[in-house]
Amino acid sequence: MTTTTDRSQKLPLPPGNFGLPLLGETIEFLRDPDFMEKRQKQHGSIFKTRIFGADSIVIIGAEANRFILSNNQYFAISWPQSTKVLLGPNSLSLQEGSQHQSRRKLLSHAFQPKALAGYLPGMEKVTQEYLQKWESISNLTWYPELRNYTYDIASTLLIGTESGSQTSLSKLFKDWCDGLFTIPIPLPWTKFGRALRCRKELLAEIEKIVLRRQKQQEPGKDALGLMLQARDEEGNGFSLPELKDQVLLLLFAGHETLNSALGTFCLSLAQNPEVREKLRAEIRQVVGNDSLTMEHLKQMNYLEMVIKEVLRIVPPVGGGFRKVVKSCEFNGYSIPEGWGVLYQIARTHEDESVYSQPEKFDPERFSPERNEDKKPFSYLPFGGGMRECLGKAFAQLVMKVFAVYLVRDYNWELVPEQNLELVTIPTPHPKDNLKVSFHRL
Ligand code: HEM
Repeated sequence: MTTTTDRSQKLPLPPGNFGLPLLGETIEFLRDPDFMEKRQKQHGSIFKTRIFGADSIVIIGAEANRFILSNNQYFAISWPQSTKVLLGPNSLSLQEGSQHQSRRKLLSHAFQPKALAGYLPGMEKVTQEYLQKWESISNLTWYPELRNYTYDIASTLLIGTESGSQTSLSKLFKDWCDGLFTIPIPLPWTKFGRALRCRKELLAEIEKIVLRRQKQQEPGKDALGLMLQARDEEGNGFSLPELKDQVLLLLFAGHETLNSALGTFCLSLAQNPEVREKLRAEIRQVVGNDSLTMEHLKQMNYLEMVIKEVLRIVPPVGGGFRKVVKSCEFNGYSIPEGWGVLYQIARTHEDESVYSQPEKFDPERFSPERNEDKKPFSYLPFGGGMRECLGKAFAQLVMKVFAVYLVRDYNWELVPEQNLELVTIPTPHPKDNLKVSFHRL
C-alpha cells in the first residue's frame, strides 16, 4: 500500500528560492508589500521560500485555502518565533487540540448574538464621543485616532475598562505590536527587544485589572467575566498566567485589525463619494435619526456589501501560518513534514478568475445578482476552519456601528499630497496615517 507520505516524498518540491543562508527571504517578506504578488507572477500559485527561519511553502487560491484550512491531520497552527514569544504560551492562538477547543468554546460565549446585542449601547456611546472629538479637531490624522477608538471599544466591552486608550496599557501596545513580526533578537534597541519589555509591562498592568475584577462580587458577562467564572471538570479555574495571556490576545486581536479595517473604510469612501452617498441614503431610509438597533442592521444590505468590499480589498490579516505535521501533496507537489505553510488571504482576494477588476472598489460585486464570492474559500478575511476568527461577529458589528454614525452625520475629504501607499506590517495602513478634513454635515 502506498501512503500519502510515501507518494508525496517522490514528488518534486514547488519552484522558488530560499534566499540567504539563515535569514532566507525574511527581510523581503517584511519590507516589500508586493512580496507575494511578485513571487506568484514568477513561480505560479505554489512556491517555496524561507521565512522566519522555516523552509516554507506558500499556496494561493480558494482550493489551496480549503486544502490548508480543512485538513487538520496535515496542518497545525504555527507562528513566527517573535509572535509566539510576544503572545505568550497560554494564548488561545497558540493552544492546540482539546485545550484549544475548550477555551474557544468558552470565549465564544462573549461573541454570541445575545452578547453582541448587549454591546450595542456601549459601542454607540464610544463612537459618538469620538465623532464629536474629531469634529472639534477638524484637521485629522485619522489612523492613530482610529487606533484609540478601537482600543477603547475592545477594552470597554471585553474587559470592562473604560477610556482604556488613555491608560499606559494602550501606549505599550503600539511598541509591542511593532515587534510581532520581526527577527527575534532580544537586544534593548531592536524592535523585538522593545516589544519584549512592553510585554512584561503589559502583563503587569493586565494583572492589576484581573485582580481588581476577581475581588468584585459580580464577575460580569464580558469576556473577562466569563473567564473568571469558568471551571473545568475538576472545578479548577484559569490560572493567573493564562488569564493574562488571554486578555492580552483579546485586546490585541480586538483592536489592531479593526483599526486597519476602519482606516480602509474611511479611505475607500473618500475616494468613492458615490458609494458614500448611496450608503448615506440607505442609512437615512432605514435608521433615520433614531438610535441604531440590531433590527436596523439586518435591513441594510448595501452596508453589508460595503463592509465586505472593505475587507476584501485590503484584508487586515494578509494570510496565516501553519506547520506541516504529516507530509502530503498539493497539485503534484510535495509538502514535506516539518515545513511551514502559508495560506494567502490578500492574494486570494485579488484572483481575477473570482473577482472582476479586483483592484476596483466595487461593493456591488457582492450583490445577489453578481455574488462574486460564491466559490467556497474565495472570500476569507476572517480565515476559516477551526481557527476562524473568534471575534468575527464583534468586528462586523463595530464596523457597522461606526459606518452608520459616521456616514449619516459627517463628511471628510483627503488632504492633498499625502502618501497613501500601504505599509502592511503589522496591519495595512497608509504611510502618512490618513490625513483628512472632517466636518459635520
Ligand atoms: C476586521 C477585523 C478582524 C479581522 C480581519 C480578523 C482576522 C482574523 C483571522 C484571519 C484569523 C485567523 C488567523 C489564522 O488562520 O491563523 C483570526 C483569528 C482570531 N481572531 Fe480575529 N480578526 C478581526 C477582529 C477580531 C476581533 C475584534 C477579535 C476579538 C475581540 C478577534 C479575535 C481573534 C482570535 C482570538 C483569533 C484566534 C482564533 C483561534 O486561534 O482559535 N479578531 N482573526
